[in-house]
Amino acid sequence: MVFRNELSEYKVNNLYLELATLISKHTKLDLTSIVNLMRIPPSLDFGDVSFPCFTLSKTLKKAPNLIAEELAEVIKAEFLEKVLAVNGYLNFYFDKKHFVKCALVDISKKDFGKNNHGANKKVIVEMSSPNIAKSFGIGHLRSTIIGESLARIYEFNGYKSIKINYLGDWGTQFGKLLLAFELYGDEKKLLADPINHLQDVYVKLNQNLTEELEVRAKQNFKLMEEGDKKTLATWKKFKEKSIEEFMEIYDLLGVSFDEISGESTQNKKSLEIINKLKDKKIAKQSEGALIIDFEDDLGVGILQKSDGTTIYLSRDISAAIERKEKYDFEEMIYEVGSEQELHFKQVFKALKLMGYKWADNLKHITHGLYLGKDGKKLSTRGGSSVKMRDIWAEVESKVLAELKKRDSAIDSRLKLITRSAVLYGDLKNFRNTSVIFDAKSITSMEGDTGPYLLYSYARSKSILRKLKFKTQKIGEVVPEMEEYSLIVKLGQFPYIVLTAKLRDDPSQVANYVMSLSQEFNSFYTKCKVQGSDKEDFRASLVYLYAETLKKALNLIGIDTIEEM
Ligand code: ARG
Repeated sequence: MVFRNELSEYKVNNLYLELATLISKHTKLDLTSIVNLMRIPPSLDFGDVSFPCFTLSKTLKKAPNLIAEELAEVIKAEFLEKVLAVNGYLNFYFDKKHFVKCALVDISKKDFGKNNHGANKKVIVEMSSPNIAKSFGIGHLRSTIIGESLARIYEFNGYKSIKINYLGDWGTQFGKLLLAFELYGDEKKLLADPINHLQDVYVKLNQNLTEELEVRAKQNFKLMEEGDKKTLATWKKFKEKSIEEFMEIYDLLGVSFDEISGESTQNKKSLEIINKLKDKKIAKQSEGALIIDFEDDLGVGILQKSDGTTIYLSRDISAAIERKEKYDFEEMIYEVGSEQELHFKQVFKALKLMGYKWADNLKHITHGLYLGKDGKKLSTRGGSSVKMRDIWAEVESKVLAELKKRDSAIDSRLKLITRSAVLYGDLKNFRNTSVIFDAKSITSMEGDTGPYLLYSYARSKSILRKLKFKTQKIGEVVPEMEEYSLIVKLGQFPYIVLTAKLRDDPSQVANYVMSLSQEFNSFYTKCKVQGSDKEDFRASLVYLYAETLKKALNLIGIDTIEEM
């Protein structure tokens, strides 16, 4: 994927990106690679930005420390106090005065943090995509949370995000479910507790499965694919009941979609595509089924079973084509667990073989699992899958206990605080690492948690209320160390927004939010605000902190609370 190379095209007036452009000029590396390589050192002692020269070493065929030393000599700018070469890294130190001047102007802007990297390009984020007739399980939680955050991060980078929920609502298992309901179903129970009832009858059928019943189940699915009205009416009822339940979960999580679609929408279209693949000789018959032999490490993908019914792979191929026709997207992200890696490689490769160049702009963004405290996969606790409802209830009860400790009134905030615990508890982890679910540790008001961040925001708002703060007044200031560190942290936000997009990594934002609030903490502990001769300036910093924190939290799906 090629990104444009000029800083002006990022339309963000930010020293980190200005520095990236400068490095780009001296190294001939493109800006995106540079932003991707740049790191913010853990302490200002090591500079504001460090840049490893190891990648350059390969192309320049020179030792990294030599490259670093040479570059340190020639990279100069008004905004740089010094550049040091240390063990193959370049450490850049911004000129403090210059930084403060630029940063404070930047931070004060309404759209601080945004850039137009995406320049109104459309990105589709396919996310959540649970399977109907089952409870929303923890297995689909990460896709939902990470997908929502990515969509927001892309928007902040100038993209137009379109969120699609692609339900698992088609396939032979629904032929089975229909049969199960036919045999053991009860309309009353379906109305009272639809999903549990459907799960019960499904389990019962599996326990009593015979060859004859399997044949009947397959016939049912065939009827669905052929558009049999009566069969489809029952299936549709199951689907509607499932969506109702899913919506309750999405409401708790604060997640929404631009389109709720599903595999069933590809029923006819996938047959068309299958025929095309046959005509183009990309697909071939094998043992009665229709397959694509990718002839490499992708192996063989099955497109159509011997009875003529379609499967997951064929539906994903046609769904991608349909979305391209419908939205003319620039990029498409599939936020789906890493166990489906081979599947998506096959989907993308099939599209490439069909001649669709845009297949290069499809990405499978993977994530790890939820584990229990014992380190084992959480998705099956005591044999049955872990429901999101139960997870939420567990977290909520812990939040409630924390609130009671503080004599806080319990109201609509309970939902928002619980949400912050669940979302931050997930997003603080890099998406590919597994997350240990521990309701207690994600709800503590003191630790590395969502509720702590909400508390920090509410505290800054309460400070501003006490100060009767109206508008910021900054003036000519020479900041002290704690003030400077806070300004530096605030000034990093636009850079974080861009790297989170380039790396498809919401944890960049989540970890930034936490370090920002820690920086605010040390500032507020050391610097007296009310009554100090720098009151205006310091109050303005409190204000800029609150504004930036709110924006950053929003990028990870968390709504703030004014009082806590
Ligand atoms: N419903 C599938 C599952 O639960 C996930 C769908 C992922 N998206 C896709 N386009 N295949 O495993």
